[in-house]
Amino acid sequence: MIYPAVDGVPVVLTDVDGWLAEEAASLVCRRDLPPAVLGRIAQGAGGVLWRDLERRAIAAASPDSPLWQWVRQILASIDGRIVELGCGTGRHGDARVLGIDLHWDSLRAYPGPCLVADALDPPLPGHCCDAVLAINLLDSCRDPGLLLQQALALLAPGGCLVMASPLHWQRAVTAPDRWLTAEFVTEWLRGQGLEVSVGVEEWVLQVGPHSRTIHQCHTWLARHRPPAPEHRRNSGAVGR
Ligand SMILES: C[S@@+](CC[C@H](N)C(=O)[O-])C[C@H]1O[C@@H](n2cnc3c(N)ncnc32)[C@H](O)[C@@H]1O
Repeated sequence: MIYPAVDGVPVVLTDVDGWLAEEAASLVCRRDLPPAVLGRIAQGAGGVLWRDLERRAIAAASPDSPLWQWVRQILASIDGRIVELGCGTGRHGDARVLGIDLHWDSLRAYPGPCLVADALDPPLPGHCCDAVLAINLLDSCRDPGLLLQQALALLAPGGCLVMASPLHWQRAVTAPDRWLTAEFVTEWLRGQGLEVSVGVEEWVLQVGPHSRTIHQCHTWLARHRPPAPEHRRNSGAVGR
């Protein structure tokens, strides 16, 4: 299979042609157009150009948030290979992180290497990451349960999962029978043998010139538990 790269961003999807057709207007749109001109073109073209314009305006106007400070603090303590699923524009600003998103226009602003790819079917080998980030993705994808499984499958032993979401579910994005509660996510991660710290951080979006949306995001920092004492005794790490 040969995958295209658009402006240097590889598009690694099973249905590349479907994605290219859906995103065509965004991909061929000149990037040097002033927002007012682009807005007038978008009025006619609609769809993906409006979406891009809105997302760019929100990204440009939104202030830094406590959520991003939380993410940066964790990133500062992590070495090795880091992947971010549903990365958007990468507000953490860390160029070491490999970003994955379906929205090519956001990736153009991403600080590190990036791929157009599906977080629910990531084109990466299993257990290859020392950290996996999924910030504000759980309630923005069609199958949050599958996302949890895929994120965990990427983690190397001892790796950590960094997740946040306001769990603001929308029927148009996620079928109601797939909505998850914060308690379910925490217990599911613990059930997979992870040590989990939970918290809440604010994520602020400037959605209009005089309007801000403040999300209270649930946060999860999850790591594989160290081997049980029984195992350590057997392996000689702890003697009597
Ligand atoms: C609410 S935005 C969050 C973006 C970024 N993480 C942030 O917090 O600023 C959700 C992002 O997830 C992406 N997304 C949704 N479903 C995805 C999927 N299956 N694979 C990759 N990205 C996905 C969207 O394109 C969007 O950029």
